[in-house]
Amino acid sequence: MNVVRKAIPIVAAVSVLGCAATGFIGDWLHGGPTGWGLLVHMALAAPVMLAFAAIALIWGGVHRFDRTLGRIGGVRKLLFWLLLLSAFVCTTTMLAAMFPIFGYIGQDKLVDAHELGGIGVLVAGLLYGLSARRETT
Ligand code: HEM
Repeated sequence: MNVVRKAIPIVAAVSVLGCAATGFIGDWLHGGPTGWGLLVHMALAAPVMLAFAAIALIWGGVHRFDRTLGRIGGVRKLLFWLLLLSAFVCTTTMLAAMFPIFGYIGQDKLVDAHELGGIGVLVAGLLYGLSARRETT
């Protein structure tokens, strides 16, 4: 169980970085990931979603804004929930865009929201990592 708890943040970080690389490079080069880049992006999307679901279940409790849980600072808790919110936006917008519900314009806006959610995951994840390091050193 300890090994799984250590592996989950690593799986999340590696798959998020892989998605970011394939997503942003594909966007800059072709206006969106295509071919192998899209295949890798989609292969890494599953571990991203599973890892964040596991993170919410395992570490959600200790990040509650409850003064009796004194070990984790308020800023770090806020960053944790911003990270999960961004991951939720990033995932649900793209899942919604995969179905013909919102029309072409709606899908286009959902892809933009997906990209913004992805940027949120990167920024909140980086700041959370830095604040966790500061609190433990
Ligand atoms: C935090 C992780 C992720 C990041 C940083 C990320 C980033 C990106 C970026 C920048 C694009 C290009 C958007 C554009 O063309 O303007 C993209 C496209 C895409 N992403 Fe992600 N993504 C992530 C996770 C996911 C997940 C979890 C899924 C699946 C649910 C997904 C599915 C897609 C698909 C299908 C496209 C192609 C959209 C299109 O061009 O029509 N991504 N992603």
